[in-house]
Amino acid sequence: MKENSRFSRPHLQLAHTNWQQYLSIGDSAIDATCGNGHDTLELCKLALSNTNGHIFAFDIQAAALETTALRLRENLSPTIFNRVTLLKKCHSDLTLPFEFEEPIKLIVYNLGYLPGADKAQTTCVQSTLRSLKSATTLLAPGGLISITCYPGHPEGALEEEALLEFAAKLPRETWNCCHHRWINRQRAPSLLLITRSLSPL
Ligand SMILES: C[S@@+](CC[C@H](N)C(=O)[O-])C[C@H]1O[C@@H](n2cnc3c(N)ncnc32)[C@H](O)[C@@H]1O
Repeated sequence: MKENSRFSRPHLQLAHTNWQQYLSIGDSAIDATCGNGHDTLELCKLALSNTNGHIFAFDIQAAALETTALRLRENLSPTIFNRVTLLKKCHSDLTLPFEFEEPIKLIVYNLGYLPGADKAQTTCVQSTLRSLKSATTLLAPGGLISITCYPGHPEGALEEEALLEFAAKLPRETWNCCHHRWINRQRAPSLLLITRSLSPL
C-alpha cells in the first residue's frame, strides 16, 4: 500500500478527503469552528462557484474571523468571497442569519483551540454537544458531519467521549457513525464521521 493512502493520511487530510466525497460545486456547507480559515478555504474550493453554493463559518473569536477573511480574500475571487458568511457567535446556536433554503450537505468541526492562541478559547463539551444536536437537524439527507477531536488535552478528551456517546445512540436507520482513531497513539487527534442516509427522517 502506498505510504500516503487514504487510510493513513494525517487527520486533517483524512477529513478533507472525506469532504470531497460529499461536496460538489454549487453545494452549501457550515464550518462550525473556522479558526485560521484553512478548513473554510478548503470548503470554498470544493463547493463554491460564481453563482451557486454558500459557506457559513462560525467562530467565537473576532481575531479568528479576521484571519479567515484575510485568507479567503487572498485565495478567492471577490465574487466567490461574497458567497461566504462569517459569523462571530457560538456554534451552540447554528441558526443561519438569513432565510436559507438550500440543503446543507456538510457540517465540519475542528475542535479545540487555535495553536499559539489563548487556550481558554477552546470548544467545550456542553456547547459542542448542543451544536452537534442542532447539526443533526440541519443536515440534508445524504450529508456528512465531520468532527476532528483532540483528546490530548483534558477538555478535548471529555468532548470526544461525550460526542462518541451521543453518536453511538443515533438511530441506525437514519445515521451511520464511524470513528477513526490511531489505536497505537492513544492521545492523537481522531475523526468522527456522521452521515445521514438519503431517505427522509
Ligand atoms: C482548532 S481551531 C479551528 C481551526 C480551523 N478550522 C482552521 O482551519 O484553522 C478551533 C476554533 O474553535 C473556536 N471555538 C471555540 N469554541 C467555539 C464555539 N463555542 N463556537 C464556535 N467556535 C468556537 C476557537 O476560537 C478556535 O478558533
